[in-house]
Amino acid sequence: MADNTKFTTRLGVIAATVGSAVGLGNIWRFPYEAGMHGGGAFLLIYVLFVLLIGVPVVAGEFVIGRYTGENVVGAFKKLKAAPLWHSVAYIGLLSSLLILGFYSVVAGWTVEYIYQAATGFGGATSQEALHAQFDRFTTSGWRQIFWTLLFLAINFFVISRGVQKGIERMSNILMPMLFAILSVFCVNSLFMPGAPEGLSFLFHPDFSKIDVSTVLGAMGQAFFSLSVGMGVLMTYASYFSRSTRLISTSVTTAVLDTLVAVMAGVLIFPAVFSFGEAPAAGPRLVFEILPAIFTTLPAGSMWALLFFVLLFVAALTSTISLSEVVIAWFVGEWGWSRGKATVVYGIAIALLGSLSSLSFGPMAGFKVFGMTFFDLLDFVSSNIMLPLGGLLIALYTGWKLPRRILKAQLSAPGREPGAPAPMAVRLIIFSLRFICPLAVLAIFLWGLLPH
Ligand code: TRP
Repeated sequence: MADNTKFTTRLGVIAATVGSAVGLGNIWRFPYEAGMHGGGAFLLIYVLFVLLIGVPVVAGEFVIGRYTGENVVGAFKKLKAAPLWHSVAYIGLLSSLLILGFYSVVAGWTVEYIYQAATGFGGATSQEALHAQFDRFTTSGWRQIFWTLLFLAINFFVISRGVQKGIERMSNILMPMLFAILSVFCVNSLFMPGAPEGLSFLFHPDFSKIDVSTVLGAMGQAFFSLSVGMGVLMTYASYFSRSTRLISTSVTTAVLDTLVAVMAGVLIFPAVFSFGEAPAAGPRLVFEILPAIFTTLPAGSMWALLFFVLLFVAALTSTISLSEVVIAWFVGEWGWSRGKATVVYGIAIALLGSLSSLSFGPMAGFKVFGMTFFDLLDFVSSNIMLPLGGLLIALYTGWKLPRRILKAQLSAPGREPGAPAPMAVRLIIFSLRFICPLAVLAIFLWGLLPH
């Protein structure tokens, strides 16, 4: 019988990890965050965070997950870590809930847009008509709830089928397809009239745009996009075999993930300037620009259909990973069956997701700290909880976990235990000990100061 609790191939490991990382965070969130925070300056800081903090914390999560082979809570128990460190696990579980609470809404939009593409966007072709279309959709309470719930039903169906069958098989085929279609659209965007302006917005850093919100936003985006800081990668690494190379898997994931985000930027910004839209339009940006691009193409609705199907799958491989953390915990620590865990967590997310889906319509006026419920879930999870989780993971792996375990896990299998660690291993350890904790703390403190 095939073992359904391990990833079977090296490609499967990469595809599942990249499948978790690549999602709406790259194609929906990155362009709109970059658009709101100054384009090139945001991209530059974002890339720095991915390299200096993201890659090491990804590797740190991998180490804990594979070494213990446990779910997030079980991992810290098995390590006999002090109670403080168990908070990493609970921060992670709570983050899964909060992230799924808004992510499922946008994932629902991708399903709605598959339907729209199949039905020719209700005849809308002009920018104004598409704008109005989006407004009608997002302000209608029940349509929002319907698509959110439909998406969640699919997500939890796949989840109930288990790790290898559900996740690996789908990622292996569809992730490369997403990559291919993104490349086609990028080339198309390069020929748009707004291309020079769009590319300069994305790639030319204007340092005067850098302020604390840019830096905090870029840090949050780096964690969010890499799926790091909340135990998703820890849980996945518990399904890795001893032969998986942790550092090269982290680097490959980070490179592919960043590449997809940059490609999304190259696809979106030339179109934004060609259509005279504002780059700072926020969460709606991509959902208005993409259909507008498709209307300019021959066989536009076919392209639109293909694209939204792939975006939906990218979102699904990410929500599966987000759900898996909590499911693995219910199964591992509470002794629940996978089916029971799926139903209970599915209902919790359905309630939260439905509530946050109303933030664009009936609940648009309900604001906490000036943010809608949807924006609040996003801000708190991405910009606060993930960096906090990442900070603790860095401190734990860098300072608490016996160095021998850290080095053995990070090194290639079969290396002599006493031999000096390769450069890559030493760099990762240095960053876990010093760079990650200091950078995250400094940014938090900066954010707390009055501006
Ligand atoms: N990284 C995914 C994206 O960019 C979202 C995601 C999946 C995630 N798992 C996560 C974000 C864990 C944070 C933590 O769409």
